[in-house]
Amino acid sequence: MAQLREVLRRLGAGELRRASLVRGGRHTQVLRLECEGGTYGLRVFPPRQEELARREYLVMRHLQGTRIPAPEPHALLTLEGRAAILMSWCPGRPMATELMRRPWRACHLGASMGRLQAELHALDVPPELRSALPSWLEAIPLDPELRCLLERVSLGRESLLHLDVHPFNVMTDGGRVTGLLDWANARLGDPRADWARTLSILRLDVGSRPWIVVALVRLFELGWRWGYRSRRGRLAHMPAFLAWAGELLLRDRGPRPDRQDSLSPAEVARVRRWISTWRRRVGL
Ligand SMILES: Nc1ncnc2c1ncn2[C@@H]1O[C@H](COP(=O)(O)OP(=O)(O)O)[C@@H](O)[C@H]1O
Ligand SMILES: [Mg+2]
Repeated sequence: MAQLREVLRRLGAGELRRASLVRGGRHTQVLRLECEGGTYGLRVFPPRQEELARREYLVMRHLQGTRIPAPEPHALLTLEGRAAILMSWCPGRPMATELMRRPWRACHLGASMGRLQAELHALDVPPELRSALPSWLEAIPLDPELRCLLERVSLGRESLLHLDVHPFNVMTDGGRVTGLLDWANARLGDPRADWARTLSILRLDVGSRPWIVVALVRLFELGWRWGYRSRRGRLAHMPAFLAWAGELLLRDRGPRPDRQDSLSPAEVARVRRWISTWRRRVGL
């Protein structure tokens, strides 16, 4: 903690007045630090995740000064044996909260997330970041047929992929997007993988919510599709990427003894149906 206080002092943040744990994070613990001189976020990683934290720090550093509003990372720390990133605090609330507060803006909110994702995919990735990031194709083990197909249809130009763009990771102040958070899954690769990942989350990871919430998420999705297409046009060869995204979702959210909020058996069955539908479309 002395290290944290020292960094805050160097930043000119003054005394730490209040630290509160933010609910809603799945992989890390996020603390909101209210200091005399401003508010900061502290993202604390699980043990032995130093490499992941370093990668995330590098990505957020790179994004400063671009059109992508990632929080500014001020320091990479080790706190009680865990890696942590001290970063700027994005004003507003997650899009998911905004969606529930002002449901009539669902399409509009979705469109701003779509445009943001398209802008991310249009960024140039400098060699130093390229060498620090793994390829999207290494994210999960794949059967040779699907892998071969994906390699065949993938674009030569590799973009920075977030691979977790969803309404809990995008902050908004109601008008504009104020932050794209949670770069733990960032990789290099074909933008269609990132698009497919977002669609799989919107469709398959909303849980057993009331129909009205599911309908709202659908409206949000329509806006997101439209926003993305307005910047990058239509996407081709999507079935293979959608099958891949289903596999990633199973891996990421499927049942595991160390996970409390994993997908229910019914949700897992839905993901499996999704995977087989898209695989059939490409003859697998
Ligand atoms: N820099 C930040 N500014 C504002 N809110 C943040 C910031 N970082 C995290 N949060 C809040 O914490 C929540 C979880 O953060 P996130 O980085 O997505 O963690 P996880 O990897 O555990 O999902 C977000 O939905 C958001 O509400
Ligand atoms: Mg998150």
